[in-house]
Amino acid sequence: MPDNMRALEPSPETMREMARLAAERVVEHIRSLPEQPSLDIDGAHTLARSAVEDPPESGAAFEDLLDLVFDRLTPTSFTNPGPGFMAYIPGGGLYESAIADFIANGINRYVTVWTAAPGLVQLEVNVVRWFCRMVGYPAAASGFLSSGGSLSNFSALFTARRERLPENFLNGAIYASDQVHHSVTRAAALAGFPESAVRTVPVDGRFRIRIDKLERRIRDDRQAGSEPFLLVGSAGTTNTGAIDDLDALADVAQRENLWLHLDGAYGGFFALTERGRERMSGIERADSITLDPHKGLFLPYGTGCLLVRDGTALKRAHTVRADYMPPMQNSDELVDFCEISPELSRDFRGLRVWLPIKIHGLAAFRRLLDEKLDLAEWAHERLREIPGIEIVAAPQLSLVAFRLAPAGFGLEEANRINRDLLARINGRKRVFLTETVLDGRFVLRICVLNFRTHLDRMEMCLEDIRVSAAEAVDAGGPKEHELESRSASEPA
Ligand SMILES: Cc1ncc(COP(=O)(O)O)c(C=O)c1O
Repeated sequence: MPDNMRALEPSPETMREMARLAAERVVEHIRSLPEQPSLDIDGAHTLARSAVEDPPESGAAFEDLLDLVFDRLTPTSFTNPGPGFMAYIPGGGLYESAIADFIANGINRYVTVWTAAPGLVQLEVNVVRWFCRMVGYPAAASGFLSSGGSLSNFSALFTARRERLPENFLNGAIYASDQVHHSVTRAAALAGFPESAVRTVPVDGRFRIRIDKLERRIRDDRQAGSEPFLLVGSAGTTNTGAIDDLDALADVAQRENLWLHLDGAYGGFFALTERGRERMSGIERADSITLDPHKGLFLPYGTGCLLVRDGTALKRAHTVRADYMPPMQNSDELVDFCEISPELSRDFRGLRVWLPIKIHGLAAFRRLLDEKLDLAEWAHERLREIPGIEIVAAPQLSLVAFRLAPAGFGLEEANRINRDLLARINGRKRVFLTETVLDGRFVLRICVLNFRTHLDRMEMCLEDIRVSAAEAVDAGGPKEHELESRSASEPA
């Protein structure tokens, strides 16, 4: 065989050398994360344009390509794996998972059907079972690892539709608070519902769904001829980390015969901690739960999870047979992922979750999640000491929302000052915070979830907020004596 026919099969020595070179770059990148700016997107357009290229007809040196990725392209980015990232919902990126992906892609087995790799499929099933146990699901529960929370929410909504509505489902109504993640709205559209099918219900002072309003809306809708079938609760909203009253939601779902889905993409893994489990009391009563290991278990992006209390529902919703497929398992224990999820071919996500849990044990994750609850509480207490800061949402998990509340200023001016405050904080590049809008108010959020974020970084965060708040006030905001510290119970 001519040598150029072997070009895509490097020699064992070359493979070892490539792995060594890549590992050196990755390890150095991870080592230097605390020194990297929390975000650096200056020159973003120029960089993106300079990266446009035609497909090459011949090859380039691996080391030159590593230089391009690590030295030129990666630095212009949000440093989301770094300790200063407290924006949106942080993740992290465990090194053990990177190694697991290397192994998974190296062995490249087909885990979508049980017969193709029964032992490896079992590892992934084990992981799902551990999560089922964490939320208090029975043995009949089932689930799968998805690409992320959005896909999990979609599959849950689709399963609920198949279980609770007739073939002609357009009359179906879905209930969620006005704080629910937008992936639920998109999931409804993907599952074929008109936009109006999602009924948003107002929240209370702690951003939790109003049960009285929910019940009234369901009653009104039934009277008007709609078919209520799905209730979506939040176990940690993206805006403020609010946890709906899950027991109350389960009661409503039971009374009204609705499928109850809980979006725990952000908050779900706090169920590993005692405090989290208490705050999510009732979670085990949900028909389905979205979890996001790439958030609360600190995994690299690309790993979500959907759990369903009655595993047979997942199978009924997703199973489609084809003659060219291998035989499927007619068993409660042996799982063919293609029969319970929307994907056919896919990556071996299980190893990415299994390996770090096996290496460290769940206790290590529990400790770090507990630390995040403490850090958010610590930040909350310190924020209250800063003149002019209003706490908009005290932590229910690891997220605190706040703003400068200038007395005597209109909404627009106050929002302008808070926008300025956020830009000043982020401009210091030690932490990266993001905003949201609540009742028209521009609000800053600290969301601490990265396993690399500890007290030292939170101290930097509070220092930067304190200094930036004083600057924002000096630069055009109100005078210090006009600012008053307010608590969440005294909304502006
Ligand atoms: C509460 C909640 N649900 C769903 C999602 C969507 O998850 P993903 O980005 O993994 O698709 C997010 C993402 O931040 C979230 O915070």
